[in-house]
Amino acid sequence: MLSSKVTCNSHGQDSSYFLGWEEYEKNPFDEVKNPNGIIQMGLAENQLSLDLLESWLQNNPQPAAFKNDKNQSIFRELALFQDYNGLPAFKNALVRFMSEIRGNTVTFDPNNLVLTAGATSANETLMFCLANPGDAFLIPTPYYPGFDRDLKWRTGAEIVPIQCSSLNGFRITKTALEEAYKQAENQNLKVKGVLVTNPSNPLGTSLSLHELDLLVNFISSKNIHLISDEIYSGTVFNSPNFISIMEVLKNRNLMNTEISKRVHIVYSLSKDLGLPGFRIGAIYSNDKLVVSAATKMSSFGLISSQTQHLLSEILSDRKFTQTYLSENRRRLKERHEMIVKGLQKSGIRCLQSNAGLFCWVDMRHLLSSNNFESEIELWKKIVYEVGLNISPGSSCHCSEPGWFRVCFANMSEETLVLAMQRVTSFVESTVKKNHMSRHQQLLNNRNSRRTKSLPKWVFELSFNQREITVDER
Ligand SMILES: Cc1ncc(COP(=O)(O)O)c(C=O)c1O
Repeated sequence: MLSSKVTCNSHGQDSSYFLGWEEYEKNPFDEVKNPNGIIQMGLAENQLSLDLLESWLQNNPQPAAFKNDKNQSIFRELALFQDYNGLPAFKNALVRFMSEIRGNTVTFDPNNLVLTAGATSANETLMFCLANPGDAFLIPTPYYPGFDRDLKWRTGAEIVPIQCSSLNGFRITKTALEEAYKQAENQNLKVKGVLVTNPSNPLGTSLSLHELDLLVNFISSKNIHLISDEIYSGTVFNSPNFISIMEVLKNRNLMNTEISKRVHIVYSLSKDLGLPGFRIGAIYSNDKLVVSAATKMSSFGLISSQTQHLLSEILSDRKFTQTYLSENRRRLKERHEMIVKGLQKSGIRCLQSNAGLFCWVDMRHLLSSNNFESEIELWKKIVYEVGLNISPGSSCHCSEPGWFRVCFANMSEETLVLAMQRVTSFVESTVKKNHMSRHQQLLNNRNSRRTKSLPKWVFELSFNQREITVDER
């Protein structure tokens, strides 16, 4: 009775990424009410600096109360505003904030900005603008599981993976780019572009200048687009510094060229400010045609005028944004160190990272076999027995089994400590069990060797005995 669009399975809802969330919902951890429940570590949410926003709101009550700085009501103005170009004050404040995150090395023109209901909507809108159904975008693996839904489901576009490997820390290489392009051609797919997340979800690493140069060279030689999802740009807490694709274009004197028109940035305040519920996203494009098409499309997913007004006030407070950004980075760094050390105690290593709200964790040594079935087997144990919802690498399309994304910024410090304790006891019991089963296996092997060789031994003995007997005769 329903359309083929809603009944097709390219939404990705059956991925272990979403299934983990469902399991968490059935038995959510609560310090008091459900201390044995599942701890949610599969959600890239930033709750570490919400208190800073709360105290700003306390000190500045007017914007949330529909008042201007003269304490006059602006309720009617906001209630009636429905221009899909967005509030100019908000667009100005947002581009300035985007520059600030990039150390003011680049500036953004508010006329090139399209407001969307989160990065989810921004990515899909860009797909609608750049790809026909059946066209492909190349994406480095592992990638954010939501892309299968955001980029493919309603647009009919396809994703072809750029296979990255742990051997070089999952870095993008020229060979991997060329191979993905060839793979798409072999599948008769027209490649329309490359999409990267910088810094990466799930790796928590920012792209190097070398990788960014490779990408610009690649899209210019193939005459395709580049989308840089920079939703985590404000979460970079350690060196190396974050380099935006805009900086690369500027430093290579490519601004205002045909190449720069094919480079588009996606941004959102869901991660850097920890406001996913407010649905504040944006597309920044150097191509006027894309800006105009995306603006028209944005009427399907606008940000409410009330939210735009509030955020324009918050982001216009430069002293606040400065303090917020540095304090948020400091807190993320502290949390990151805590989880890395906590896992290290249990002999679990993380990929070295400098950004994001998660670690990319190597649990290959805990797999019963080196395959994705064993990864899911381990994941189920971690969800149901250990009580942690983490995301298996296969849900991020990782090509190697045994990697997991573990989020650390959506819980209290106490909950993270408890999660680490659960990991420690799980690893200890697994090691003990493995040790015992290996010991048992050794015993079994020895016994089976004995039983196997017994007939021969018995035969030899009896034969010799017979001989002896014979000799004695
Ligand atoms: C790389 C990436 N892009 C987009 C999104 C969606 O963000 P939003 O809440 O702004 O729609 C996420 C959310 O996790 C993400 O990690």
